[in-house]
Amino acid sequence: MDSFLIRGGTRLKGRIEISGSKNSALPIMAACLLADGKTTLKGVPRLSDIDSMCKLIGELGCHVYRHEPTDRVNPDLPPLNGPLDIEVTDEKMCEARYDIVKTMRASICVLGPLLAKRGKAIVSIPGGCAIGDRPVDLHVRGLQKLGAEFRTENGNIVGEIRGRLKGCRLYLGGAQGPTVLGTINVICAAALAEGETVLVGAACEPEVVDCAELLIKMGAKIKGHGTPEIRIEGVDKLTGAEHRIIPDRIECGTFLIAAALTNGELELKNCNLDHLIAVVDRLEDVGVKISRDNGTIFVSSARRLNTVEMTTQPYPGFPTDLQAQLMALLCLADGMSVITERIFPDRFLHVGELNRMGARVRKEGPTAIIQGVKEMQGASVMASDLRASAALVLAGLVARGQTRIDRVYHIDRGYEKIEQKLAAVGAEIERVKEK
Ligand code: EPZ
Repeated sequence: MDSFLIRGGTRLKGRIEISGSKNSALPIMAACLLADGKTTLKGVPRLSDIDSMCKLIGELGCHVYRHEPTDRVNPDLPPLNGPLDIEVTDEKMCEARYDIVKTMRASICVLGPLLAKRGKAIVSIPGGCAIGDRPVDLHVRGLQKLGAEFRTENGNIVGEIRGRLKGCRLYLGGAQGPTVLGTINVICAAALAEGETVLVGAACEPEVVDCAELLIKMGAKIKGHGTPEIRIEGVDKLTGAEHRIIPDRIECGTFLIAAALTNGELELKNCNLDHLIAVVDRLEDVGVKISRDNGTIFVSSARRLNTVEMTTQPYPGFPTDLQAQLMALLCLADGMSVITERIFPDRFLHVGELNRMGARVRKEGPTAIIQGVKEMQGASVMASDLRASAALVLAGLVARGQTRIDRVYHIDRGYEKIEQKLAAVGAEIERVKEK
């Protein structure tokens, strides 16, 4: 278990390249189970969750091959990740084992593709995790509406279909709104179902759109992705295609906040600011200056940070995956801010650790009240989940003295080379390898 040592107080300045989106790449890799022939994915980040998904689809009969990195025109920049080829070579296996599912909840994404293509799926039931209960009832309900039958057996969801899935009109919303991976599971299944599926209450996240775009390249007939009503006309067969994964909007948002916290000036390459409209809206109110030129974002910030109120919401609202990082910023704002978490109401493990660094955050149910302080101090803290850990890195960049963050494997799940990217723009951060 590696740690990060961060000496706070340096101003970040320079250029950072944003990686491909983890949350887009994971379901897209699972969607490759639907296709005949080879799919080539570009921009897949190098992360431990991606390795887990490679292992899972490998066990499910896919040949997965990562090409060598390609050199860039600009020799000052590191080489680009090589594309990832995925081709199904054996369709006998239908099981996602507990060993893999427990390390990566996105394993649930194989449920829809396996049912639609192989007629059977056994997926270990993902338990709760650091950010709260993570039920999969909506995934199951959506697939049931398409004709799949489910039972629970020894901790597994076992799904089967007789003949072929049948398209229908179905509603997929839940108590906390739409489900991102549930929407993708149903789209994948409906793509090979008989007849038309109209999915109402669908998630509109860019990652859903990205997956639908790949399926369309494979031959699927999908309309309305990116809106709450998606229409899918089932086809008999999908064929491998080539696709580039969208930039990681959460990584981009994290670096926007890093610039704001350190009073820095960053140029972020390979981003889509349209995917961050609510984030930009909140950050501008805090006093952060953000502008764009094609795929590059320029960010700088004023010394004085204003307070804001923010509630996490489904897309296009403020993403839950940036809640912890925004909190780290607001810890240093000039007064009291309020954050309400509507997607995962228990996602506040960072609060206690930020307070250990001198922040003043009080939690009341799904709301956190943040009283801004003049400065935070370095401390030894513990990474708990991916985004909470990112918030600790951000706080460490600006805290007085040294911060040690243990268990950074949580960060390695979702941020590609974060310490290298930050060090390249002036941060004093190093990885201490486990002995
Ligand atoms: C995706 O998870 C992301 N994961 C999460 O990112 C992200 O936080 C989340 O969407 C919300 O944006 C990946 O893409 C791999 P949901 P997902 O189903 O799809 C409830 C990160 O840090 N719900 O949209 O699993 C659920 O409890 C991660 O990168 C049900 O009630 O999330 C939540 O309140 C963590 N029943 C809400 O819906 C279900 O069957 C939205 O969850 C499914 C979900």
